[in-house]
Amino acid sequence: MKLVVANHKMNLTKETLVNYKETLLTFTNPEINLVVCPSLPYLDLFQNANFALGSQNVGMLEKGSLTGEVSATQLKDLGVSYCIVGHSERRTKLNETDAMINQKIKELLKQDITPILCIGETQDERSSGEITTVLEKELLGAFKDLTSDEISRVVLAYEPIWAIGTGITPTNQEIEETISQIRNILNKQVSLSLRILYGGSVNLQNITTLEQIKDLAGYLVGGSSLEINSWIQLLEQIGR
Ligand code: PGA
Repeated sequence: MKLVVANHKMNLTKETLVNYKETLLTFTNPEINLVVCPSLPYLDLFQNANFALGSQNVGMLEKGSLTGEVSATQLKDLGVSYCIVGHSERRTKLNETDAMINQKIKELLKQDITPILCIGETQDERSSGEITTVLEKELLGAFKDLTSDEISRVVLAYEPIWAIGTGITPTNQEIEETISQIRNILNKQVSLSLRILYGGSVNLQNITTLEQIKDLAGYLVGGSSLEINSWIQLLEQIGR
């Protein structure tokens, strides 16, 4: 069964989302475990749905003075069971560090919310052969002080930064090689059980090709998850 995560980012408003939810309620694909991550103010709108609720972010403290952030406890209260952390947009545009990401993962695990940790390289880092160094830094930073058991409760999303929102995707071979690099960085016990998703310009045109990758637990999808009808068409191609 594939884990498929819709990341709405800072898009869509209430009226569209009400229709989005109603349309999704009529959709079934037993091969998919679907997670929808709307913008934070709309989390409550997605209660009692036939898919899991995900958050795009979590505050790094348990509670208290952190204006504008939302705690893992509050997310849990709203029925959230997954949360994206370390998305490259937050790392680059909001200066989110590996230490902050590590803190967020710890808060989520305390509430039994599954962190979806995004890692990935820029085009320059790939071209200059730094990819392993970058992935290793992101992984070790995010997993600092976590036990093997805790790490295996995290889902990884390999998202090459150059593929996000660009319409360009790596070849299946490049994705497979990177996934095996990621598994090599982590110790054997953790590595075997870890679920790894691919994210970056997943769309109706490339999904059949991506589906041929064996060691892939699912997808993290941004742009293609926004328009409900084409999103459902894409979801219908998965796990068939
Ligand atoms: P994209 O975004 O599918 O629009 O490339 C993916 C992501 O950023 O999670």
